[in-house]
Amino acid sequence: MGAEKKTRLDKYVAQALEIPRSASREMIAKGRVTVNGQVCKKADTQLEPGADVCAGGRPLHHEAFVYLMLNKPEGVVSAAEDKRDTTVVDLVRDAYPRRALFPAGRLDKTSTGFVLLTDDGAFAHDILAPRRHVSKTYRVVLDAPATPAMAEGFAKGVTLADGQTMEPAELYPDEQDPCRCTVVLHQGVYHQIKRMFGVYDVGVNGLHRTAIGGLALDAALAPGQWRALTAEEVHKIQQR
Ligand code: URA
Repeated sequence: MGAEKKTRLDKYVAQALEIPRSASREMIAKGRVTVNGQVCKKADTQLEPGADVCAGGRPLHHEAFVYLMLNKPEGVVSAAEDKRDTTVVDLVRDAYPRRALFPAGRLDKTSTGFVLLTDDGAFAHDILAPRRHVSKTYRVVLDAPATPAMAEGFAKGVTLADGQTMEPAELYPDEQDPCRCTVVLHQGVYHQIKRMFGVYDVGVNGLHRTAIGGLALDAALAPGQWRALTAEEVHKIQQR
């Protein structure tokens, strides 16, 4: 894959190698960059879409956007930056120092599991839009058993203490231990699951997001680990 749209050579090389623009200009000036097989020493060359660019003999691939699946550990905040706490973006910053990554949707500081990190604002906006109803699935540990009445209430739409009525949600208590359950939400309201169980005077002791849309968290990712998504996986997120 080469350049996708018309772009300046020095910018393209800097982005693909994640190096400062000054370093990419230096590489170009030293004749270490080729465009379609020819050495090109002009940093302001406009690349045609699909141009093959090599630096130091290696072909460059600059992905337009990054999509990462992170298994958020407890105690890390779902933000790009924070003055006090480690953020989900801090966990991947070394690998993507020049990307403006942010979490698409939030998990509480105490919650764990699947956080999607991206720099594709339009994609994030789309999957978070209430009209899209992209589902989010959670494993939840309660301080009292979940009952069939709660499952019915979730299915109808729980009215929170402040009067807001939630969209219908799914609640599946575990057969062996109803203090453990799976909850599927189709919207994202601050502290939503805790507040929904709060209506029934039930406390949440643990909350772990296991899926976004049709994409499950990779079980091989330990807390704090992450990996890039394939194009097929990005597509699965949109399949609610
Ligand atoms: N609902 C909550 O209460 N907390 C989360 O982190 C996610 C959903």
